[in-house]
Amino acid sequence: MINSRIYEKRRAAVARSLKAAGGGIALLPTAPEVARNRDSDFPYRHDSYFYYLTGFSEPGAWLTIEASGKSTLFCRPKDLEREIWDGIRLGPKAAVTALGVDQAFSVETIDKTMPQLLENQRAVWFPFATHKGLETQVDGWLNQVRAKVRQGAECPGSQHDLCKLLDEMRLVKDKHEIDILRRAGQISAGAHVRAMQTSAAMLRGGFKGGPREYHLEAELLHEFRRHGSEYPAYTSIVAAGANACVLHYRAGDAELKAGDLCLIDAGCELGGYASDITRTFPANGQFTPAQRTLYDIVLAAQYAAVAVTKAGKRFTDPHDAATRVLIDGMLETGLLPKAKHGKVEDVLASGAYRQFYMHRTSHWMGMDVHDCGDYTEPTGKATRQTDALGQDVLRKPSRILQPGMVLTIEPGLYVRPAKGVPKEFWNIGIRIEDDALVTAKGCELLTRGVPVDADEIEALMRG
Ligand code: GLY
Ligand code: MN
Ligand code: MN
Repeated sequence: MINSRIYEKRRAAVARSLKAAGGGIALLPTAPEVARNRDSDFPYRHDSYFYYLTGFSEPGAWLTIEASGKSTLFCRPKDLEREIWDGIRLGPKAAVTALGVDQAFSVETIDKTMPQLLENQRAVWFPFATHKGLETQVDGWLNQVRAKVRQGAECPGSQHDLCKLLDEMRLVKDKHEIDILRRAGQISAGAHVRAMQTSAAMLRGGFKGGPREYHLEAELLHEFRRHGSEYPAYTSIVAAGANACVLHYRAGDAELKAGDLCLIDAGCELGGYASDITRTFPANGQFTPAQRTLYDIVLAAQYAAVAVTKAGKRFTDPHDAATRVLIDGMLETGLLPKAKHGKVEDVLASGAYRQFYMHRTSHWMGMDVHDCGDYTEPTGKATRQTDALGQDVLRKPSRILQPGMVLTIEPGLYVRPAKGVPKEFWNIGIRIEDDALVTAKGCELLTRGVPVDADEIEALMRG
């Protein structure tokens, strides 16, 4: 059963924002069903914005919210024949009570009803550049209203991006969301533990043909699903050995060999909310000295980033803190020879560290693994800056962290074979990623149910 109060409150907040902006109506569809091949579809996943305001996960649905607070749902009509094949539909009649909306209609009437809802509204808000064909659809409905202006109807005079408004709301998570994110983080952490232990056990047991990346992926999926997760929040990465240096590698069929590391980046989606964890561990449960050296640098970088993840700091502070520690490690290990590259400040200025650390440390996380929300202060003043690629760009100041924001902290080091790079580090790829809920005093790591300390990982894998 859907707890409709949660969604009613969010819809009321949208209505207040519309009112504050001078009135109007917001409309948004859920996601379409997507064909996979011939008559098979991909597993259905609702649209995150739509779900955020309704808790409703059937396809073929639309929501409108008026500045007055009135909400209207369009959904698939009851249809015995279709329900026998595809499952029960809520239907408009039951939707009013189940979802707490003011009125509900069959989606089959939308081309007739939506123009009526748009009539005499000052403005229309809908998601820009998100749903294919939506702009054309809205144009068609507005044209129907315009056709009646000589009869005295008023047509909305402006269009606004509804995402802008919803992104700000979604960026700060409420208690309901935090509870689910915590649970999703716990389940995913358990899955990482299971995968680590399976890897070591299979190698200890002399599994014929060796453990493969897909064996560990299967353990992850098993653990996600048995705890009620609907599906993974994104395609799982299980990367044996050198595959870890391919940032968007997927779980494949490479063998996990004793002496190699394995990098797993995987998280479940639970009740519409993501989790996002990376752990890197020795396939057989024991780090080599070279692996351990780099691992401890990445871990120190993560701790440095965690230490500055708190309300009042900026989104870029964890990245800056992690990058300095990583650079220091690159200089100390000879990945970047000091004689050529100088000190930490010099490497920051030259950007030479990007050979081994080429991604950012954080992204927002929530309903979407790379969640919505501005990364800069919405009211900040833009100034000219030099970006990571040395280009002159206009940028607002980085976002100030607030309690309730959730971001990942995921530093890494990726060492591809290259001239001048110490051979002992070749093909080592390490990332450590946790999900952090910003609090007033610091942050709560939602995903530490799986250890990060190298000794603790080794102990866990012996168990
Ligand atoms: N798994 C996607 C990411 O870490 O950003
Ligand atoms: Mn991530
Ligand atoms: Mn990840």
